[in-house]
Amino acid sequence: MVADAIQSMHGLLGENAVLAYLVMMAARLVELHRVLKPTGSMYLHCAPTASHYLKLLMDAVFGPKNFRNEIIWERTNAHNMKARMWPRTHDTLLLYTKSDDFRFDQQFKPYGPEQMKRFKPDDQGRLYKAENLTFSTANPSRQFDWRGTRPPPNRSWGMSLEELEGLYARGRILLKKDGTPRMDGWKIYLDETQGKPVGTVWTDIERISNTSAERLGYPTQKPLALLNRIIESSSEPGDLILDPFCGCGTTVDAAQALGRRWIGIDVTYIAIDLIRRRLEDAYSGEAQFVIDGIPRDVPGAEALFRKSPFDFERWAVSLVYGQPNERQVGDRGIDGVIRFPLDRRGAFGRVLVSVKGGRQVNPAFVRDLLGTINAEGAAMGVLVTLVDPTRGMVDAANRSGSYVWLVDGRSYPKIQLVTVQQLLDGYRLAMPPALTPYLSAPRHVPAVDQLSLG
Ligand SMILES: C[S@@+](CC[C@H](N)C(=O)[O-])C[C@H]1O[C@@H](n2cnc3c(N)ncnc32)[C@H](O)[C@@H]1O
Repeated sequence: MVADAIQSMHGLLGENAVLAYLVMMAARLVELHRVLKPTGSMYLHCAPTASHYLKLLMDAVFGPKNFRNEIIWERTNAHNMKARMWPRTHDTLLLYTKSDDFRFDQQFKPYGPEQMKRFKPDDQGRLYKAENLTFSTANPSRQFDWRGTRPPPNRSWGMSLEELEGLYARGRILLKKDGTPRMDGWKIYLDETQGKPVGTVWTDIERISNTSAERLGYPTQKPLALLNRIIESSSEPGDLILDPFCGCGTTVDAAQALGRRWIGIDVTYIAIDLIRRRLEDAYSGEAQFVIDGIPRDVPGAEALFRKSPFDFERWAVSLVYGQPNERQVGDRGIDGVIRFPLDRRGAFGRVLVSVKGGRQVNPAFVRDLLGTINAEGAAMGVLVTLVDPTRGMVDAANRSGSYVWLVDGRSYPKIQLVTVQQLLDGYRLAMPPALTPYLSAPRHVPAVDQLSLG
């Protein structure tokens, strides 16, 4: 079924990036369906350019009868402003379940101004609205006389006699002058309603903008409100939430805050490192989690280096809390940078990070790094190695001089040598307090360690 769907998309699209994406997704959707509980739900977030193909794939994997909703999330920024077409202002969320037995808790939002106009104050100033007690269907079992009122032939009471009596007893029925119930007399108090049920068009969730308090600087970060709504509607505390493309961990953060268990997966080390910091910041070190699949020891680091030197470099840069270079080559041997403040106005100094994963190391690496620091006008450098540095390297580093941080007059070695083992053991570089490449997640308790600059 999935192969057939891909085959027809191949015929339609030819071999291009969209087809490659769909093939990549198809394999993952099959596995996600496999691991989903029989009572589980899956939300797939996608752009309108791919949503129609993904819906077909989801139909093929989950079965068309398990399609529940297509949700339109209106983003406040347009994705693709081209002349001669409507700006693209929404993303799509597809909801499928594994079976007919699934959890769904309706979510509500505050009434808008138009709906609020329907509410009037009672004698005590308490706001209420009147709803119709009848439905426009002729249901003989609901077409009875009640306290002198009977629905017309084409309508029926919307509830049983007992339910009507219950409302009457609680003073929730509006009466006509003659004392008989009004058919549109179901009195509903505003303070007893949950608000307006959320439908399939979501316009009340703001995207992450440059000024959002939640913003961490991860380019595709989603708002917590979006994930809160999804998690709250389709799971209960203690359930397990999986986000296999978890980016900077919005799903993980929302699941943690809502008392769900969670698993987040992402292909990049940066994302995992950012989530670790996000959880540490937001929960003051109280969130319990395990990070798997990244090196925990030197043999693991060597294995990663053999598998992908580029991934090894990015991982090593994250160990010194640096920001990796995006480009894979041609960066004068510099694999990342750590920034630190120079004043209160946003000026910053740079520590260049060079990572060497091979077993052969020599003093030329130190001299090259010093040359780049000087050429780039950077403040300092750090050379991260898998193996211990040679005596010559230590001497070269010692001869490189020092850097004085004008904020407090302290001096630091111009070049530091550090091994992966030392970093795994928790060794911290001697340098001014770093500016993290990403912003800190808002804390659940007040921050204590504020950086103060003279
Ligand atoms: C749209 S972003 C998710 C953003 C996330 N919802 C958030 O709020 O940060 C997609 C993520 O999928 C990751 N990704 C891409 N291909 C992947 C793969 N094959 N396996 C796991 N993660 C992948 C990317 O690194 C990226 O972080």
